[in-house]
Amino acid sequence: MNQAQIKVISSGKYIPKETITNQDLEKMVDTNHDWIVSRTGIVKRHKAAEQEESSDLAYHAAMDAIKKANYDINQIDLIIVASITGDQMTPATANFVQTKLGITHECMSFDINAACTGFVYGLEIAASMLASGRFRSALIIGSEKLTKVVDYTDRNTCILFGDGAGALIVEPSEKKEDQVYFYNAAKPDELLSLTVERYIKMDGRKVFLFAVDIMQKGIEKMLNESNLTIDDIDAIIPHQANIRIIQAVSKAMNIPMEKFVLNIEEYGNTSAASIPISLDEYMLDQKNRNQKVILVGFGGGFTYGSALINL
Ligand code: UT7
Repeated sequence: MNQAQIKVISSGKYIPKETITNQDLEKMVDTNHDWIVSRTGIVKRHKAAEQEESSDLAYHAAMDAIKKANYDINQIDLIIVASITGDQMTPATANFVQTKLGITHECMSFDINAACTGFVYGLEIAASMLASGRFRSALIIGSEKLTKVVDYTDRNTCILFGDGAGALIVEPSEKKEDQVYFYNAAKPDELLSLTVERYIKMDGRKVFLFAVDIMQKGIEKMLNESNLTIDDIDAIIPHQANIRIIQAVSKAMNIPMEKFVLNIEEYGNTSAASIPISLDEYMLDQKNRNQKVILVGFGGGFTYGSALINL
């Protein structure tokens, strides 16, 4: 049983300005706007500038979270960046973020790669490390520059992915209601990969079936572990991969679509950034504070995971 209690302090996001619309993609591959919208729910995705790396997107998302709470940067002593598109092999993207934030005091910073589930994995790692008593404040970021690894001649994948970053600052909490629950795991499979050949490859249909199944399991696990019912949950923040995956989960579990936070239309699939971006958009509405939300994701690996947190 997970005993970690975390206080959510602030969230942030960064979305690059440039967009790739469905109409833009029609000029690159044999596809069309109606097919993309009806099969995925995506209308556009955002694209980072040439010189903007994942650490830049992550830095801006972190600054957004810091500014919103007027947070003392000196508190942060743990930075975790989840990404499959880090700036380079080493130093870690998190090390670059630490430098960009100007954090020169002792702070542990490192990257994790759990594909699209990276942020949920990162949150569990941070919660455990905070519960150890050795850290006082964690900054967890999901950041992706996926446009640099998308093959714009492959219509099966290029319509899906976009760039962006989301961040969350959390601290340990004394309050019982801040208890968090996690379910993070993996099942080896290579149906979704990004190899040194540089491009994302995916068997979309098989990933789709896996996703519908595992997202239901992720939500059920959270309800069982916490002894709550779906009515006690204010919102579900799913990985934004395909609107039809979310609709299928909603239908199979009899959970109204209104309970799911959605923004796939605007950003497409931003991998590890998708859940924290959605979380930030949800938290922007002050009335959504002090709520119980389930985060649920899946991705290459296959990795999958869910978290139940109190905002
Ligand atoms: O975070 C990463 C996790 N990734 C995912 O969650 C992806 C999960 N999978 C999916 O979202 C969907 O499988 C896709 C959106 C990738 C594809 O949708 P689909 O409904 O599963 O389509 P499909 O692969 O079964 O293809 C149906 C048809 C095929 O043509 P035929 O063989 O029926 O003649 C494809 O060639 O649609 C064709 N097609 C397209 N047509 C127009 C595939 N991509 C496109 C396209 N535009 N972009």
